[in-house]
Amino acid sequence: MNIPIALRLVLAPTGRGKAALCTLLLACLFVAPGIAQEPEASREFVVADNLAPHSAPAQPLPFSHKTHMAVGLVCQMCHTNPDPGSLMTYPSTETCMACHAAIATDKPAIMSLQEFAESGRTIPWVRVYAVTPGVSWGHRAHLESGAQCENCHGDISQVETVSESKATLAMATCISCHEARGAKAECVTCHAWPTDQYLGIE
Ligand code: HEC
Ligand code: HEC
Ligand code: HEC
Ligand code: HEC
Ligand code: HEC
Repeated sequence: MNIPIALRLVLAPTGRGKAALCTLLLACLFVAPGIAQEPEASREFVVADNLAPHSAPAQPLPFSHKTHMAVGLVCQMCHTNPDPGSLMTYPSTETCMACHAAIATDKPAIMSLQEFAESGRTIPWVRVYAVTPGVSWGHRAHLESGAQCENCHGDISQVETVSESKATLAMATCISCHEARGAKAECVTCHAWPTDQYLGIE
C-alpha cells in the first residue's frame, strides 16, 4: 500500500511520528515569527560550555562513547537511575561482556576487561561530574521534567573520552535553568542552608 507519509503518521502514530506531526502542526499554527519561541527555548535549556578546558581523567580502560554509540546503543543500556538513588551509575562488567565475550577479544584492553570480569572486581571508573557535597541533587526529577542527557553533558555520542566540558556544576547554571523552567530557586531548594551547623554554630 502506498500511503502518503503525513497520512501514515496520523493512522499509525509512533512516538517519533507524533513528535514530527506536533512539530508540523505547531509550525503551521505559529507562522508568525516569535510567538512560539519563548516556551520552546526555555524547555530546551542548554548548559553553557566550560570556558576553561577540562581534560578527561585517566580511566582504567580506554572506553569510547563514540565507538559504542556508533554501534547503535542507547544511553539507558549502561546508565540507569535506580530508585531510590540520585545517580545514573556505571554499567556492570557483565553488560560489557555481553558483547566482549566475542568482540575484539584479542585486544589488550579487552583482555583487561576480561580480567575484571573473571576476578569480579568492579571497574574503578573515575568520576567526571560531581556536585559539591551537601548540595541537593538528583537525576530523576530532572529527567522526568524532560531534560535530556545532552542538555547537561553535551553530545556524548561524539566523544572518545568524557571530560567536564559543560558548566553543569556551577550554582549559576542550576539557578538559570530553574528560573527559565519555572522550578523553585530558593536557597533551601538546593541547600540545607543557612543552618547553625553550616555556620559552625553548634
Ligand atoms: C553492543 C556490544 C558492545 C557492548 C555492550 C560493549 N562493547 Fe565495547 N566494543 C564493541 C565494538 C563493536 C567495538 C569495536 C571493536 C573493533 O573495533 O574491533 C568495541 C570496542 C571496545 C574497546 C576498544 C578495543 C580496542 O582496543 O580496539 C574497548 C576498550 C571496549 N569496547 C570496552 C567496552 C566496555 C568497558 C564496555 C562496557 C562498559 C563495552 N565495551 C561494551 C561492542 C560493545
Ligand atoms: C556501553 C555502555 C555505555 C553506553 C551505551 C553509554 N555509556 Fe556513558 N559511560 C560508560 C562508561 C563505562 C563510563 C565511564 C568511563 C568514561 O567516563 O568514559 C561512562 C561515563 C559517562 C559519563 C561521565 C560520568 C561521570 O563520571 O561524571 C557521562 C556523562 C555519560 N557516560 C553519559 C552517557 C550518555 C549521555 C550516553 C548516551 C548518549 C552514554 N553515556 C552511553 C558506559 C556507557
Ligand atoms: C539537569 C542536568 C543533567 C541531566 C539532564 C543529566 N545529568 Fe548526568 N549529571 C548531572 C550532574 C549535576 C552530575 C553530578 C552528580 C553528582 O555529583 O551526584 C551528573 C553525573 C552523571 C554521571 C556520573 C555520576 C552518576 O550519577 O552516576 C553519569 C553516569 C551521568 N550523569 C549520566 C547521565 C545520563 C546518561 C543522562 C541522561 C539519561 C544524564 N546524566 C542527564 C547533570 C545532569
Ligand atoms: C536543564 C535545566 C536544569 C538544570 C541545569 C538544573 N535543574 Fe534542577 N530542576 C529543574 C527542573 C525543571 C526542576 C523541577 C522538576 C519538578 O518540578 O519535578 C528541578 C528540580 C530540582 C530539585 C528539586 C527536585 C528534587 O530533586 O527533589 C533540586 C534539588 C534541583 N533541581 C537541584 C539542582 C542542582 C543542584 C542543579 C545544578 C547542579 C540543577 N538542579 C540544575 C531543571 C534544572
Ligand atoms: C538550584 C540549586 C541552587 C540554589 C537554588 C542555590 N544554590 Fe548555592 N550552590 C549550588 C551549587 C551546585 C553549589 C556548588 C557550586 C560549585 O561548587 O561551584 C552552590 C554553592 C553555594 C555556596 C558555596 C558554599 C558551598 O556550599 O559550596 C554558597 C555559600 C551558596 N551556594 C549559597 C546559596 C544561597 C545564599 C542561595 C539562595 C540565594 C543559593 N545558594 C541557592 C546550588 C544552588
